Amino acid sequence: MSVDLDQQAIGILKQNDRGGFTIPTARQYPYQWNWDSAFVALGFATFDPDRAWREVELLVEGQWDNGMIPNILFRNDDPDYFPGPSVWRTPMVGPPDAKFSTSGISQPPVLATGVADLVRSTRDTARGKAMFDALIRYHRWFHRDRKPDGFPAIATVHPWETGRDNCPDWEHGLAAMTVDPDLGTYERRDNVHSDQAQRPSDHQYDCFLSIVKFGRDHGWDQSVLTNQGPFLMADPGLHFMLLRADRDLLHLANRLGRTDCTAEIEQWIADGDAATDALWNADLGAFTARDLRTGVFSDGFSSASALCFYADTGSPAQRQSTLGHIRRIKSSARYLLPSWDPNHRLFEPQRYWCGPLWPQMNYVASRGLQEQGEFELADAIRDDLRSV
Ligand code: DGY
Repeated sequence: MSVDLDQQAIGILKQNDRGGFTIPTARQYPYQWNWDSAFVALGFATFDPDRAWREVELLVEGQWDNGMIPNILFRNDDPDYFPGPSVWRTPMVGPPDAKFSTSGISQPPVLATGVADLVRSTRDTARGKAMFDALIRYHRWFHRDRKPDGFPAIATVHPWETGRDNCPDWEHGLAAMTVDPDLGTYERRDNVHSDQAQRPSDHQYDCFLSIVKFGRDHGWDQSVLTNQGPFLMADPGLHFMLLRADRDLLHLANRLGRTDCTAEIEQWIADGDAATDALWNADLGAFTARDLRTGVFSDGFSSASALCFYADTGSPAQRQSTLGHIRRIKSSARYLLPSWDPNHRLFEPQRYWCGPLWPQMNYVASRGLQEQGEFELADAIRDDLRSV
């Protein structure tokens, strides 16, 4: 990274610092978000290791009794954001003297990978050890409460949980669900802060809020939400990021002397690796999302499709085919790695996850390709992000 970009990035982190945790951006995203925090901790680690640890330590304050770490931690109630704590109505969590509420779903579990990176860069094994129980409880929650009956991989109950909110990947799952007739009226705030043409549609928002209502109406029983909720899809992003995080958690367990957990984690890794095939769309020759109620695959290559390298999974033939898609996209797109295939009918260059680049996806995709020896594409994905 050039000095100038470094300084700009540091400036943004400082500006969005809310005293130990970082908001993604003022007004539009005024709370602590799960995967955002795990990524920004890596940025803080480059100039303020203590602040980096603080970020992830404050994130795990949001952990539920069942182990889930939610995607949003509402330490206050900010009228600029919708849907806030009064819509989610979840149990209170956090320290006894400063309890707060959260959302009722999670986000891609990149936290264990982030903590493994922090232990490596800061050599602070004591702080890593102090976080380990929270990490393993979080992974247990994913492997238990997001594993639908009869499907080998984890799944998701809400597009927001994938982090890729309005990606065309969710088309089938959203089309198969009905908007709750008792949803009532509500006022979006995201359209006030950003151009509506870049945001999810009103119908998508009706679906998003219907799922929230279902969770709320069922007391946030996560197993009911997974097995009986309105929406259930497998997501290559969640699958690959959890498998990668399981591998990093195993590394941490060994490094931190938590060998009491290694057999359990090894089993998750073996099961996860074997389950990768369940996300292989043979017609497209790529890993894609899949609606679990109908079995129908999404038919587009997304930035999450490229993460088999990051998770170190997939057969040699599946990896070759994935590389073929990335090369094809490289030859027609100005920048790698678009969030959605530019040659697909649903590509939109300005609308959030329907095309635009997302830095964290370029980061993990490039890192995985680099680790697996695909240097040219790894460099292209990293350099394109820096040159945008
Ligand atoms: C939003 O509100 O746009 C978020 O992505 C939900 O996590």
